[in-house]
Amino acid sequence: MSEPHARQLVAGMVGGGAGADIGKTHRRAMRLDGEYDLQAGVFGRDRARSAAVASQLGIPEDRHYAGYREMAEKEAGRKDGVDVVVVATPNDSHFEIARTFLEAGISVVCEKPLTRDSVTAGELVRSAADNGAVLAVPHCYSAYAMVRHAARMVRDGQLGAVTFADVEHASGWAATPLEQGGHKQATWRTDPDIAGFPSVVGDLGTHGFHLLRYITGLEAERVSGRLKTLVPGRRVFDHATVELQLTGEIPGRLWASMAAAGHNHGLRIRVFGTKGNLEWQHEDPHHLAVQDLDGTTTVLTEGLSSLSDDASRLTRVGLGHPEGFLEAFANFYRDLAAELRARRDGTLPETRELSFPTGYDGLVGVRFVEAVAASNAQDAAWVIPAGAAVKVGV
Ligand SMILES: NC(=O)c1ccc[n+]([C@@H]2O[C@H](COP(=O)([O-])OP(=O)(O)OC[C@H]3O[C@@H](n4cnc5c(N)ncnc54)[C@H](O)[C@@H]3O)[C@@H](O)[C@H]2O)c1
Repeated sequence: MSEPHARQLVAGMVGGGAGADIGKTHRRAMRLDGEYDLQAGVFGRDRARSAAVASQLGIPEDRHYAGYREMAEKEAGRKDGVDVVVVATPNDSHFEIARTFLEAGISVVCEKPLTRDSVTAGELVRSAADNGAVLAVPHCYSAYAMVRHAARMVRDGQLGAVTFADVEHASGWAATPLEQGGHKQATWRTDPDIAGFPSVVGDLGTHGFHLLRYITGLEAERVSGRLKTLVPGRRVFDHATVELQLTGEIPGRLWASMAAAGHNHGLRIRVFGTKGNLEWQHEDPHHLAVQDLDGTTTVLTEGLSSLSDDASRLTRVGLGHPEGFLEAFANFYRDLAAELRARRDGTLPETRELSFPTGYDGLVGVRFVEAVAASNAQDAAWVIPAGAAVKVGV
């Protein structure tokens, strides 16, 4: 496990104010390895409430900002300005906020879905490259040690050739019309102007889709999707089933739902190959079940000395001590820190086959949302996601 570095990376945040969901997870994860120091931010649109959060977090008063544009301008002009800004606002504001910082040469962690359309997502990827900045998207499930091990097993051919992959992110968090009672997160996630009509695909589908791409190393060549609204009166789609044709015509399947009644987080992936299969579940994240052709099941546990280096380097406390969501989020930040530090200090970044999701992954996620929506509009016809075989940017 890494210890605090002599000179921490300076971080800023936009979003994550009082009552917000994911901003506090980012802050806790950034603290875990002592690599980041949160020194600037705008924690909501209301200036007084934002300043109150900033004070609680110990941010110096001259770095409590009224808005993100002011923050980008002033931070870019400081010698000790932020190295990275976390954008943890609802989806409709990601593009303008991320673009403002990237154009000022400041690296960005932008929440998913990266933007609401692939044109703007592509613009962010280009802007990061043009301005020498890093753009990262926190699909943090890829930062669990046992997910890294699963990806390593597939890369090393331990499952043989992949024959099928099945992922579900089927949560029950909004199985009732929470939005009608003013629930903060449900209100914007069911507003098509903020979350888009295929809301559940952008919100949960992009996580599942990224996890599938990350473990298998395969891309979606075509998708056939059906979207439904299971909760009466809801204005967006809350249930999606998608057939995938992966690289080399390998079949895949994705189910994303915010209305899977009774399910908790509901993220699970299974990958099948010619030699066996593996299964990982987010609610038991320190185990990976592997079955061979005879059906013998081996349950691998985080911390075992026989695991890959990819898994071991993400393990802090060792065998018998389960790690979870915060640690995975911190793993994302640790991988990112290595890249940010190299840029800041002018050293060579470590190259790793399995590292953090970039803006490119965010762009692929947005293209996936668009392709699923287009397929649904054509009675589940097969649709080729934009740029399916073309890799651009970072
Ligand atoms: N990676 C993950 O696992 C994960 C988990 C949850 C949410 N998310 C994503 O994170 C984002 C935020 O989701 P949430 O559930 O935390 O939302 P939220 O509604 O709980 O919080 C959003 C925060 O952003 C602030 N905000 C809005 N506009 C702002 C602006 N212009 N300037 C400054 N602050 C502003 C709000 O005041 C609030 O504090 C979404 O894009 C969501 O998809 C990702």
